[in-house]
Amino acid sequence: MNEEAKKKILRKIPYGLYVIGVKGENACHAFTGSWLSQCSMRPPKVMLGVRHGTHSLDLLKEGKAFSVNFLGKSDTKVFEQFFKATPSNGDRFGEIAFSLKKTGTPILAKSIHYLECVVSDILEVGDHSVVVGEVVEAEVVRDEPPLVMSDTPWHYGG
Ligand SMILES: Cc1cc2nc3c(=O)[nH]c(=O)nc-3n(C[C@H](O)[C@H](O)[C@H](O)COP(=O)(O)O)c2cc1C
Repeated sequence: MNEEAKKKILRKIPYGLYVIGVKGENACHAFTGSWLSQCSMRPPKVMLGVRHGTHSLDLLKEGKAFSVNFLGKSDTKVFEQFFKATPSNGDRFGEIAFSLKKTGTPILAKSIHYLECVVSDILEVGDHSVVVGEVVEAEVVRDEPPLVMSDTPWHYGG
């Protein structure tokens, strides 16, 4: 296989960008995710690729729920906050405000739309797991286009 072609083509798959909110027994956490797709209509389910060894995957297994936060075109800084591994002081959210609703996973105050999901299946595939969640809550806070990967110089995978 031509490695360069494989990388180039995999990076051309159109991706969104989301802040995925997760929860543990005593803590909320979040990470920037892009590998998300709907995978069932009835019941409504989405699947999310999550890297092995991340704090987020541990919390998805523990808390069994996640939120999917969509942000506006000018909110790149919010995504940057959730790129990095957890800071040593544990302050993952900094100035970024959030609230807890149906599933207890963080919903960002800046979200333009959000979903809340309950984890139904986790499948290990290579260096990521596919986490499947049933959508149990949804709100369009502002009906405007979300920031997507192609609006940015970023990529993930390839
Ligand atoms: C543009 C972009 C997209 C990303 N998409 C994903 C993704 O879909 N799945 C994933 O596991 N990590 C993704 N990451 C990496 C996570 O954001 C990063 O590993 C996460 O902050 C780890 O935090 P944690 O170890 O505290 O859970 C992405 C990073 C960037 C910069």
